[in-house]
Amino acid sequence: MSKPSTQKSDFTIEDLVSLAKRRGFIFQGSEIYGGLAGTYDYGPYGVALRNNLKQAWWRFFVEQRDDMYGIDAAILMNAKTWEASGHTGAGFADPLIEDKVTRKRYRVDHFLEDNGVDPTGMTLEQMSAKIKEMKLKSPDGNELGEARQFNLMFETRAGVVEDTASKVYLRPETAQGIFVNFKNVMDSLHPKLPFGLAQIGKAFRNEITPKDFIFRTREFEQMEIEYFINPQGWEGSFESWVKDIRDFLTGIGIDLQDIHELDVPEEERAHYSKKTIDFEYKFPFGTKELIGLAYRTDFDLANHAKHSGAELRYQDPHSGERFIPHVIEPSFGVDRLMLAVIAASYSVEEINGESRTVLKLKPELAPVKVAVSPLLRNKPELVEVAQKVYKDLKKEFGAVMYDDNGNIGKRYRRQDEIGTPLCITIDFDTLEDKSVTIRNRDTLKQDRVKIETLSSSVKESLDKF
Ligand code: GAP
Repeated sequence: MSKPSTQKSDFTIEDLVSLAKRRGFIFQGSEIYGGLAGTYDYGPYGVALRNNLKQAWWRFFVEQRDDMYGIDAAILMNAKTWEASGHTGAGFADPLIEDKVTRKRYRVDHFLEDNGVDPTGMTLEQMSAKIKEMKLKSPDGNELGEARQFNLMFETRAGVVEDTASKVYLRPETAQGIFVNFKNVMDSLHPKLPFGLAQIGKAFRNEITPKDFIFRTREFEQMEIEYFINPQGWEGSFESWVKDIRDFLTGIGIDLQDIHELDVPEEERAHYSKKTIDFEYKFPFGTKELIGLAYRTDFDLANHAKHSGAELRYQDPHSGERFIPHVIEPSFGVDRLMLAVIAASYSVEEINGESRTVLKLKPELAPVKVAVSPLLRNKPELVEVAQKVYKDLKKEFGAVMYDDNGNIGKRYRRQDEIGTPLCITIDFDTLEDKSVTIRNRDTLKQDRVKIETLSSSVKESLDKF
């Protein structure tokens, strides 16, 4: 019998890091060279889970709606973009403090938090003063310099000539790629308000203190929507996005009990936002931002119109009124969402005195949907049937794995940790009765099913998770 024994407080981020590495989900970036801080690489199951998550998001927010369109803009953009958006200014800088000896930099607010001080609402000068007053030293025991602002954008150069005109940035958010294409989409598809543009893609921030595994990294991926509206009644649109985000989270297996919706106070909101709700998730290292939902007003389009000279107004087809649309922006981090999904599905259970670790992923997200095994790998008559079952299921369900490594107990343990919902075993009885055993990851129930009806049984079982 199985006895659920995992509470959220029962595991740490290290448990997730260990499982992710052991089973080929996530590795430290450039690991054989000692790593590169703030980067992670995704292994075979990680990439599958990640792709499934992105597909689930795209299906939910783009394909299943009739007011959404997708785009995929270049990562490198004309540097004027970032002047217009405010990212080259103080709005996109973090406060940092430097160790005077090692030159290592720390985020002042994080540093104060680590030293028991709540930095909420403190100015740069106040944070510096607090450090002096408490006579705080760097983690290496050295004097610290004055706190100052540090811009998070990575700079590089486009082309061969090194002049100021060739300076480009790696985009720190995908959002601006959407704003600069607003006119292109308007001119080519002529959508009516309200409508949204969605994009999934990489973003880069030179975070001073990347930490907590894939929670805060320097290279990450975002899934963002800019939803263009008439500003009248923006509150209603904002509310419906709150509901959509909740529904999406529930659909991918995140319990809303583990979500805290923080109405971000004005002084902590991004420079462009008139209202922001941070959807925070109870990660093993604390309750932290998972998704941001912001009312960006017409800040971005108005600034791009000003800086580029382009006409970015919308003409209402009924009233003829021309105005710059306002924007509601739901912004998701793929990596953070993936970490939340792993944490939400991670469970350690005791079965007949033995412990098993299992990822109870929704089948839609699971890297492998079904694993097929012969009871013994050295019996050709079992292998032949197992291979046929495997190939037939693979044609239909795609992510099906043939697993004949180790004994059956080891295979179950491995598949549980990968999060495979169903394991099918071909044994000696199969040769007589043309039936196989299907094991359910969560209930551990094992059913005998005829091979001829296997595909519908698999579909039915997956639908029930
Ligand atoms: N366009 C709005 C925007 O970028 P943000 O709150 O700075 O807003 C949105 O970022 C989301 O992107 C966050 O909620 C988080 O999921 C993800 N994100 C931001 N910085 C990240 C980082 N350094 N590492 C991983 N994910 C990050």
